[in-house]
Amino acid sequence: MPVSTDSLPSPFPEQPVAAEAGRGVSIGVFDSGLGGLSVLRAIRAHLPAAELLYVADSGHAPYGEKSDEFIGERSEHISRFLMTQGADLIVVACNTATAAAVHHLRSTWPSMPVVGVEPGVKPAVAHSRNQRIGVLATPFTLQSEKFRSLLERHGGNAHIVLQPCPGLAREIERGLLDSPELHALVSEFSQPLIDAGVDTAVLGCTHYPFVAPLFQQALGDGVHIIDTAEAVARQTARRVLDLPIRRDAQARAAEARATRLWSSGDPALLTHVAHAWLGLKTQAGALPKE
Ligand code: DGL
Repeated sequence: MPVSTDSLPSPFPEQPVAAEAGRGVSIGVFDSGLGGLSVLRAIRAHLPAAELLYVADSGHAPYGEKSDEFIGERSEHISRFLMTQGADLIVVACNTATAAAVHHLRSTWPSMPVVGVEPGVKPAVAHSRNQRIGVLATPFTLQSEKFRSLLERHGGNAHIVLQPCPGLAREIERGLLDSPELHALVSEFSQPLIDAGVDTAVLGCTHYPFVAPLFQQALGDGVHIIDTAEAVARQTARRVLDLPIRRDAQARAAEARATRLWSSGDPALLTHVAHAWLGLKTQAGALPKE
């Protein structure tokens, strides 16, 4: 399977991170599929000693073209599973599931810290010189109430082009980062941003960082691309500091750097992609149905 990750943006923190960071803590991370691996990679860089549990709901991807109810039910099922596996904190590594379900998860488990992901509108407005910005995301995210409120709070007076990218996450789910289909979709979705003269583009879906090099090529070197994985990892690291020390921290310390993976789709594809894209040597299991 030809996969190249050579020019993916680096998730590594600007400040040095202690090798002990995250020791004794278990972090549950999920996405509709493979995209949340971009967030998992950044969390590993910030919390190298944490145990990470990752669920790819690839059997139900993409979420971006599904209903609120469906995404809410899936998010609840997966979060419950991650808790049974010992998660102390949940990261919803999916912009779509955050928009659809993060409030529901927080009200269902008020004592469980839940970190969500939102498109980086705020950093884009801070960075853009010409105040012309493009946001690339799933149709669901762009239509959501949560995103509208994000735009109102942080959009300022910028001219913001909202570009839904139907089909793009589905194509990335195939595990190939260089297919002609991907090139075609990326250039189709980049064109309105080029026409609008944006100098900053926001990757508002966690699948898209894996095709950031294709977007950079299509948009041109003058366009700055913003991905929020790094900010989410920093926020996760802050929330970890608030967690009570677990009595079984010693036992968990023995599993430091362990990452466990499950997929509701094809576990062999998740195993392969986690190795090819992140260098993980972990065999993924099947996510139990109920
Ligand atoms: N990775 C997801 C996101 O961040 C969703 C992709 C999809 O399933 O449509 O929005």
